[in-house]
Amino acid sequence: MYPETFQGFAIPAADRWNHPERLEFKPKPFGDYDVDVKITCCGVCGSDLHTATGGWGNKNWPVIPGHVLEIIGTAVKVGPKVTSIKVGDRVGVDTYNSFYPDGTFAHGGYSSHIRAHEHFTFPIPDALESELAAPMLCAGLTAYSPLVRNGTGPGKKVGIVGLGGIGHYGVMFSKALGAETWAISRSRKKEADALAMGADGFLATQEKDWNVAHEMTFDLLVCTASADDGFDLSGYLSLLKVHGRFISVGLPEGEGWRVRPQSLLSNGCLIGSAHLGSRRETLDMLQLAADKGIKSWIETIPIGEKGVGEALERLHNNDVKYRFTLTNYDKHGSKSVDQSSVGEPTWDCIAMCVNAARPNLLALICDLRH
Ligand SMILES: NC(=O)c1ccc[n+]([C@@H]2O[C@H](COP(=O)([O-])OP(=O)(O)OC[C@H]3O[C@@H](n4cnc5c(N)ncnc54)[C@H](OP(=O)(O)O)[C@@H]3O)[C@@H](O)[C@H]2O)c1
Repeated sequence: MYPETFQGFAIPAADRWNHPERLEFKPKPFGDYDVDVKITCCGVCGSDLHTATGGWGNKNWPVIPGHVLEIIGTAVKVGPKVTSIKVGDRVGVDTYNSFYPDGTFAHGGYSSHIRAHEHFTFPIPDALESELAAPMLCAGLTAYSPLVRNGTGPGKKVGIVGLGGIGHYGVMFSKALGAETWAISRSRKKEADALAMGADGFLATQEKDWNVAHEMTFDLLVCTASADDGFDLSGYLSLLKVHGRFISVGLPEGEGWRVRPQSLLSNGCLIGSAHLGSRRETLDMLQLAADKGIKSWIETIPIGEKGVGEALERLHNNDVKYRFTLTNYDKHGSKSVDQSSVGEPTWDCIAMCVNAARPNLLALICDLRH
């Protein structure tokens, strides 16, 4: 029999954020356009941590994190109206921590399977391995999109603030796009890694007068900082040329940083933000990674109560180089799939981004798709 329930590793409550527990859950009713995906790997995003700790105000306990395009798996069942995916295709999925219109809660990729709408499918170049491609689909795109939308290329000087999952892609993609690229971290601990990723220079913000020698020299800063304790926005803004841009993709918990109008005065700099990226940008990013041989810096951890807890805890401690990908999904839940219903994998390399549970984002992505 095809499984009526899926299994995952859920955070039971905010005060148990690093003690996930196995959970069996019922997916939403299967729709004509739905695809069931048997997950093979999933990246661990800073957003998963904000969700698990309740830092963003999550109240939907228990929740299985693992999201934003970082799920890769094999399509094991497709609805009768699905045209873009076949059983056996490799797909990526994005959806969790919200409710479908029928009231079913959408869990994420720390699960055996996921059921989602077929929209937003895109091919992944064969050159990219699943474990390396999975985190690229969120963290990579979140770095790539603001870079290309804000003119990164030869002749530009770009700074990437925060060398975590998103930040390490920021350094590699900015460099691949041809810009002079600087990593801006709090200490010097990650300097050697940043240079190995291709950074032309490195600034450590905990050092005295760290910004002075570079004031008014940067065209663009992409800020990936996940927290704002000790974060002095004015120091970063001072780095920008006239009308330079500070684009924040990081989503710190709590009140966030304060903007003083005075700190915008000397260079008339502009502050903005970005959310993931478009379908076109996803395709371009994957192609760029394949063409230039860009490899994600990942550590793999076998999925399970221990593995998920360890990944979240180490991410919390800034102890990851530079993204975790959860693997070994076959050890959990695979027996519940009736393999006779699974076609021969064709490895057509299709990835799918779905956010049916978040209508606004769905509409936005729909819009960008054309
Ligand atoms: N906009 C979007 O579409 C989108 C998508 C996904 C995730 N996000 C958000 O982006 C943020 C980063 O995600 P991630 O997965 O890259 O997280 P991550 O791997 O934990 O990296 C975050 C980095 O932020 C820096 N940082 C942490 N605390 C800081 C502080 N107080 N001041 C300055 N820098 C600090 C650290 O870099 P250093 O050690 O180098 O200083 C850290 O490595 C999260 O808030 C996440 O929710 C946004």
